[in-house]
Amino acid sequence: PTLEPFVDPLPIIETVSAAGELAAMSGTHRYHRDLPETRSWGFERPVLGPTLEARRDQVAHIGFRNELGTHVLAQHVDLTMHGVTELDRTDPRFTVHLHGGTNRPDSDGHPLIGWRNGGGPRFEYSNRQEAAGLWYHDHTMGISRLNIQAGLAGMYYLRDEFDTGADDNPIGLPSGEFEIPLIVQDRTFNADGTLQPMVAWYLPTGYNQSGQLGDVACVNGVVWPRLEVRRTVYRFRVLNGSNSRPYLFTLSNGMPFFAIGGDLGLLDAPVITPTIRVSPGERVDLLVDFGPLRDGEVVDLLNVALNDLGNSIFMIPAVRDIMRFTVAGDGPPAAVPPVLRGGAGLPDTLEPSYSPETVRTMTMMGYNDPARAAAVFPGMGVLNNLPFLGTDIDMTRAGTTERWDIVNTTAFDHPVHIHLARMRVLSRLPINAAAYWAANPPPAFGTRWAPPADAYAVGSEQLPPAWELGWKDTVECPTETVTRIMVRWPSVEEMGFDPDRPVAVPPGAEAISPTGMHDAEQLSDDEQIRGYVWHCHNLDHADHDMMQQIRVLP
Ligand code: C2O
Ligand code: CU
Repeated sequence: PTLEPFVDPLPIIETVSAAGELAAMSGTHRYHRDLPETRSWGFERPVLGPTLEARRDQVAHIGFRNELGTHVLAQHVDLTMHGVTELDRTDPRFTVHLHGGTNRPDSDGHPLIGWRNGGGPRFEYSNRQEAAGLWYHDHTMGISRLNIQAGLAGMYYLRDEFDTGADDNPIGLPSGEFEIPLIVQDRTFNADGTLQPMVAWYLPTGYNQSGQLGDVACVNGVVWPRLEVRRTVYRFRVLNGSNSRPYLFTLSNGMPFFAIGGDLGLLDAPVITPTIRVSPGERVDLLVDFGPLRDGEVVDLLNVALNDLGNSIFMIPAVRDIMRFTVAGDGPPAAVPPVLRGGAGLPDTLEPSYSPETVRTMTMMGYNDPARAAAVFPGMGVLNNLPFLGTDIDMTRAGTTERWDIVNTTAFDHPVHIHLARMRVLSRLPINAAAYWAANPPPAFGTRWAPPADAYAVGSEQLPPAWELGWKDTVECPTETVTRIMVRWPSVEEMGFDPDRPVAVPPGAEAISPTGMHDAEQLSDDEQIRGYVWHCHNLDHADHDMMQQIRVLP
């Protein structure tokens, strides 16, 4: 259906304190004035969830309860995906991961453990980290791309003594009605209002992890919304909650963004930039100064990414419009603060002492099975040539600092997310992936393959832009590039728990054993679910093999 942009107001998502119980429920929601109601999922609301607010170092306990009923995207539940059964259509599993949180292994929402209708986890969030805009979302193996698309996602504001969330915050950040979450998600709707999570070039069943690109943009659950703004400075907490689409945001009148933070907290000082890239899973914290504008002036938030996934082989038009701001009246006088945490946070520049204890090469590659290659679309990505469920699992040690050289040999960009760790981007080095592949032919799928790639450089090492210098939990890894990141594993003392404790499968939950057996009632010793995962945050990739487990030894 053709939908008129900027007719529906932006829903302002309420903020509640991170505590108590949240029901994941089914409801109906109108995504656009001219669309019929859509059956949707949300936490305590018909779609998406409230913004949860927590305070640094104050433990939060939250119960999540599955009241989802049948799957709203039942016909798209793919029985060939890991751990997925027919039952997921009528009584879907779910779990919740607090993305960016330093969480105990049994509260991390491990994708191998899920709860069906009537059940649900009770998680403990330590909040032992500086103020940041985290988010919570479903993470159920094999169906998370559908569960999140149906609406199971929300923001989580972690506050501290600098970013208090109140008017009297010491930095001078906009707060209250001038601090607004923007959850950006592209979607495709059928004429009857239902979501269409498949795209024309989707892989056949069994390979369907190439990605989902919608043809309209939703913000906070509404297609192309509009917002009336006052003449003052606003703080937009932007989350890319899309399945697969990266955005390059800009403002239509040429005004800059003042980027004040990324995934895991504030920068040292605002970075003035006309554009900012946000890949699936990433957040940016932006100030926009509407102060100098006239009444009635219109500013559109636009996506000016040239193409969808880092290349132009897919002729799917980029979604250009995102939302519209219209200036109406004066607001409180405000200015962009010149300094943010004043050096009181984690520094934007690398500690001079930084030297990694371990350097790992990790690869992103197309599924390598010559027997099936003809049938397999090159978009089906895997990590290190390994399946998600297997015994070759990376191990690391709490309190250490590593360097990961992530070699993306595929024709797509992939945003990599590592649970528990804090990351920072060191550099990106373009390579000739075909030459790298030819000189180091990979073995068949299932045997680790991760040779160093620096010798195949075809350009010079690029430093990250200034807005990308802060601490991150999700990093864009462009096509045919080595993305070098620093990975810092918190120490046991910082975390306050043992990150390698086996995760007990609580009563009422179901587990997929790490060796692949479904519905493991009793897991043997080497089938224990331990530790964390790292994965591509293109949700369609993560649901299949573009995810790996990692154990963090104390
Ligand atoms: Cu946003 Cu492993 O997830
Ligand atoms: Cu990917």
